[in-house]
Amino acid sequence: MMARHELFLLVIASIKVAGHSTNISIPSNLSTRVLVPDVYGYSMEPVWVDDYLKSDIASNLMHAIANITQKPAPFRVGGNTADQTYLHPDQNVTSIAYPDPTNAETFNITPAWYDTWANYFPVGTDLIYTLNLASNTSNFATAVAEAEAVHAALGSKLTLFELGNELDHYQSKSWRGPGWGVTEYIAQFANLTSQITSSAWYRNATTPPKIQAGVFADPPSLPDQQVDQDDFDIVNVTGAGLVDPDLIATYAMHLYPQSTCEAVRWLRMRLELLSNHAVLWTNVSQYIPEVAAAEAAGAVFVLGETNSISCSGRSGISDTFGAALWGVDYALLAASIGVQKLAFHLGAQSEYSSFTPVPYEYKNESLEAGIRAPFYGHYFVAHVVKGSSDWNIAALPTANESDFSGYGVFDASNALKKLVFVDLGIWNASTGLSNPSTLSVTDSTYVSNGTRPVNDMRVTTPWEEGAELSMLRLNGPGTNAKSDVNVSSVTFDMATGTKIGEEEEESVQVGAGGVVAFELQQAQAVLLELS
Ligand SMILES: *[C@@H]1O[C@H](CO)[C@@H](O)[C@H](O)[C@H]1NC(C)=O
Ligand SMILES: *[C@@H]1O[C@H](CO)[C@@H](O)[C@H](O)[C@H]1NC(C)=O
Ligand SMILES: *[C@@H]1O[C@H](CO)[C@@H](O)[C@H](O)[C@H]1NC(C)=O
Ligand SMILES: *[C@@H]1O[C@H](CO)[C@@H](O)[C@H](O)[C@H]1NC(C)=O
Ligand SMILES: *[C@@H]1O[C@H](CO)[C@@H](O)[C@H](O)[C@H]1NC(C)=O
Ligand SMILES: *[C@@H]1O[C@H](CO)[C@@H](O)[C@H](O)[C@H]1NC(C)=O
Ligand SMILES: *[C@@H]1O[C@H](CO)[C@@H](O)[C@H](O)[C@H]1NC(C)=O
Ligand SMILES: *[C@@H]1O[C@H](CO)[C@@H](O)[C@H](O)[C@H]1NC(C)=O
Ligand SMILES: *[C@@H]1O[C@H](CO)[C@@H](O)[C@H](O)[C@H]1NC(C)=O
Ligand SMILES: *[C@@H]1O[C@H](CO)[C@@H](O)[C@H](O)[C@H]1NC(C)=O
Ligand SMILES: *[C@@H]1O[C@H](CO)[C@@H](O)[C@H](O)[C@H]1NC(C)=O
Ligand SMILES: *[C@@H]1O[C@H](CO)[C@@H](O)[C@H](O)[C@H]1NC(C)=O
Repeated sequence: MMARHELFLLVIASIKVAGHSTNISIPSNLSTRVLVPDVYGYSMEPVWVDDYLKSDIASNLMHAIANITQKPAPFRVGGNTADQTYLHPDQNVTSIAYPDPTNAETFNITPAWYDTWANYFPVGTDLIYTLNLASNTSNFATAVAEAEAVHAALGSKLTLFELGNELDHYQSKSWRGPGWGVTEYIAQFANLTSQITSSAWYRNATTPPKIQAGVFADPPSLPDQQVDQDDFDIVNVTGAGLVDPDLIATYAMHLYPQSTCEAVRWLRMRLELLSNHAVLWTNVSQYIPEVAAAEAAGAVFVLGETNSISCSGRSGISDTFGAALWGVDYALLAASIGVQKLAFHLGAQSEYSSFTPVPYEYKNESLEAGIRAPFYGHYFVAHVVKGSSDWNIAALPTANESDFSGYGVFDASNALKKLVFVDLGIWNASTGLSNPSTLSVTDSTYVSNGTRPVNDMRVTTPWEEGAELSMLRLNGPGTNAKSDVNVSSVTFDMATGTKIGEEEEESVQVGAGGVVAFELQQAQAVLLELS
């Protein structure tokens, strides 16, 4: 029989279903993590770089980000086709993918290919390049030559090398034999890096690139999603001795919460899984031991390639406003557990790309170049990190529900400077459902009934009564929307990537007892900042 207090708890629980907490306090003893100004970055598939260079969209968008953060978003040129890239100095074109970029099995380049993208990104952009580790002939001659050529083109813009991409998938790709694991990898890592670091160009370089080690794909806590049987993760690789703080700046793993890669996961894909902070927590928290291992090795852990859905994404999920809110929650949650940077993967024809450079025919539709909703999540995060290179972040235990999350941003002396709240509740709109850069066949036909809920938030802060706060919002018509998204009315021109309008900042005053009262719409993010 149910005791009376249990009954009472049930009633409370059933009331809470109607909406998330609205009465939030900020604990004073939060443990914080570094929030770097370039937490949100990109990874670009090598075969698709040429298409991105045909347009100013990516460059203009990144200038707009850098203009706010004062530190451009980092770009990694890497991905599957990095391990299929070969230098052919004498070929008659700068680059060519065989049979074509979509189905590339080889990507042949001349050293001049590196020059083509050396100056595309804003000044100050950190560039990461993935060398071909799959090719192990002549003592990694391909990677050794690539390293010298890419450095000759990029100079000090080249901050990190990766040695291979997703090497925990090398066995199933027949790039390594049975037994491929941490021990073999460490020996090959040592062989290739010592060739690079002992070369004349490296010893002569003013700022020689360091290494982003690891670069593993499989989620550490999900054996059923591991493509090959192996022992690759950062805990194991550092435990086996891959520790060199002078050379290894970062250790990377990749994370894709959902996947189109095979039937089992295809059938599980849902936009609702992106609009769920508890799901995100299960996805991200499995990296806590990986972060600790990287830090114990004197380095930093990053999610070096990521996006919503692996094997190129899924239109209708990856390109929605729901994915933009997920991107904000994801970047901040990851930062709050010590994942310093995330690189969202891009391909010119990938369904998850936040922006695409050129028109193309795809699945029987003619898609335009353009900007998808998730870019607005990045633009919102740019405002979260704006103003310092010394912020720290903590996830708020008082804003930690499946449809709601919150973060505090602190200065170097641990004083609270900003608050972010993300309402992940699903609201399906009837407007903004199409975007000419996405597949129209995936435009949503679900519409929520009634009026979009608005929560009256009441946040008890350590801020002084009367202090002025500015507010910025990430707005969209609904979770399912693909367009009409904005950050406090700022939008970006679909054809050029130039910023339209200025942020219309709202302001609010801190009330008695440090209480800040404001409205938060279902499916919206808000940034509150001490002026
Ligand atoms: C909100 O929190 C304040 C301060 O903790 C408390 O006094 C008040 O009763 C709470 N209100 C609700 C509706 O829970
Ligand atoms: C903060 O204090 C609360 C209440 O005493 C405690 O439950 C929590 O574990 C503390 N958190 C940290 C990060 O120290
Ligand atoms: C950078 O910001 C300034 C000040 O807001 C603005 O005038 C300028 O147009 C911005 N430049 C870009 C490239 O967005
Ligand atoms: C480049 O060489 C290939 C064969 O190696 C040839 O088929 C192609 O026509 C050449 N292209 C140009 C632009 O000369
Ligand atoms: C070298 O690569 C081949 C595949 O090209 C693979 O079968 C072999 O195991 C690799 N050798 C080593 C020592 O990793
Ligand atoms: C790399 O391995 C090859 C083959 O075992 C060996 O001949 C060579 O000396 C090694 N180079 C370095 C720098 O370790
Ligand atoms: C060494 O660096 C200087 C200046 O960066 C450059 O001019 C020179 O060519 C480099 N020499 C070698 C051997 O790479
Ligand atoms: C780490 O190594 C242990 C021991 O070999 C193994 O059981 C474990 O599965 C490895 N972890 C990962 C994520 O592969
Ligand atoms: C992410 O979380 C969802 C829901 O728990 C789960 O189905 C999926 O396998 C997770 N993905 C990864 C890569 O952790
Ligand atoms: C494209 O159209 C062809 C011919 O009608 C059809 O066979 C194919 O399934 C369509 N592809 C997609 C992705 O809809
Ligand atoms: C949020 O909830 C999860 C699951 O209950 C918990 O493990 C995690 O520590 C919580 N986060 C914070 C910041 O309290
Ligand atoms: C919206 O209302 C219509 C008509 O009452 C109903 O048929 C439909 O199931 C409702 N949709 C949702 C998502 O609740």
